[in-house]
Amino acid sequence: MKYGRKRVLVTGGAGFLGSHLCERLLAEGNDVLCADNFFTGTKENIAHLMGNPYFELMRHDVTFPLYVEVDEIYNLACPASPIHYQRDPVQTTKTSVHGAINMLGLAKRVGAKIFQASTSEVYGDPEVHPQTEDYRGSVNPIGPRACYDEGKRCAETLFFDYFRQHALRIKVGRIFNTYGPRMHPNDGRVVSNFIVQALEGRPITLYGDGSQTRSFCYVDDLIEAFIRLMATPDDVTGPINIGNPQEITVRQLAETVIAMIGSKSEIVYHPLPADDPMQRKPDISLARATLGWEAKASLEEGLGRTIAYFQARLGT
Ligand SMILES: NC(=O)c1ccc[n+]([C@@H]2O[C@H](COP(=O)([O-])OP(=O)(O)OC[C@H]3O[C@@H](n4cnc5c(N)ncnc54)[C@H](O)[C@@H]3O)[C@@H](O)[C@H]2O)c1
Repeated sequence: MKYGRKRVLVTGGAGFLGSHLCERLLAEGNDVLCADNFFTGTKENIAHLMGNPYFELMRHDVTFPLYVEVDEIYNLACPASPIHYQRDPVQTTKTSVHGAINMLGLAKRVGAKIFQASTSEVYGDPEVHPQTEDYRGSVNPIGPRACYDEGKRCAETLFFDYFRQHALRIKVGRIFNTYGPRMHPNDGRVVSNFIVQALEGRPITLYGDGSQTRSFCYVDDLIEAFIRLMATPDDVTGPINIGNPQEITVRQLAETVIAMIGSKSEIVYHPLPADDPMQRKPDISLARATLGWEAKASLEEGLGRTIAYFQARLGT
């Protein structure tokens, strides 16, 4: 630790979740190094942090080794939405797998504690509902989502091998759908899609009949769970589900967004994409017990803040 401040590396720090994490870590008095290759992240997401002397931005691709002195690493680098991660699937797998190897190698060299942003997608199209951490998942290894799902599964494998083989201090959080300000307006994720379509008065596109369920966590709640997980004793490794178990159908979400915006958008139905999960809901008993955490923001509160962000951004 230098100057009494913890030096924290956030990979993917210019992305949606990463930018909120950098903000929170700075607010807590840490020295933050943000490493990003700007594949999906933007400088606008972190522009408001650039004047802070304890914030440093570095253009870096995690598929290459990184040599820096840090106390903690949050490994978030990886495109998260299907549109982005399927654009260059080989690079997606490389980012997850080589990225994990490089960041774990760095953690080992400098003795840093390391957090992995894993995902509910490791459960694939689950046969059990809600998903607990001991459920091993149902992933199609050769489908279009596999570059992400299998990449993230392999990253978890690497984290646990470094833990067993090199006694590394690891923290693995399995993130469920999260939304909030700074999501990409055009990345096809359901919350941002619906809000942007409703604000622009365009038809709301719903895949399948809209009866598939999702549970949405507001970003501030999620970041709180990251911080708490990082602060747990060394024998707490995860994986720990982090998400909001409040489940709604995608059609209900569309209707809520339309009502909150007062939009005249109609709902139009399209075929369900390959391997799209029908149900997604975290069992967060472990997070409640280990982190004393659960999501606080209601869907209406979170949507309200997200809608306000997109209104300002789109000038609607
Ligand atoms: N948002 C969610 O609902 C959600 C759910 C599950 C898991 N996650 C995980 O959380 C992390 C952050 O997701 P997000 O929603 O903020 O997505 P995002 O796309 O906004 O952020 C990802 C960031 O990683 C950067 N990046 C991508 N490849 C990189 C590389 N090779 N080297 C360096 N930087 C690279 C991008 O430029 C971007 O800034 C991801 O690892 C994602 O898999 C997110």
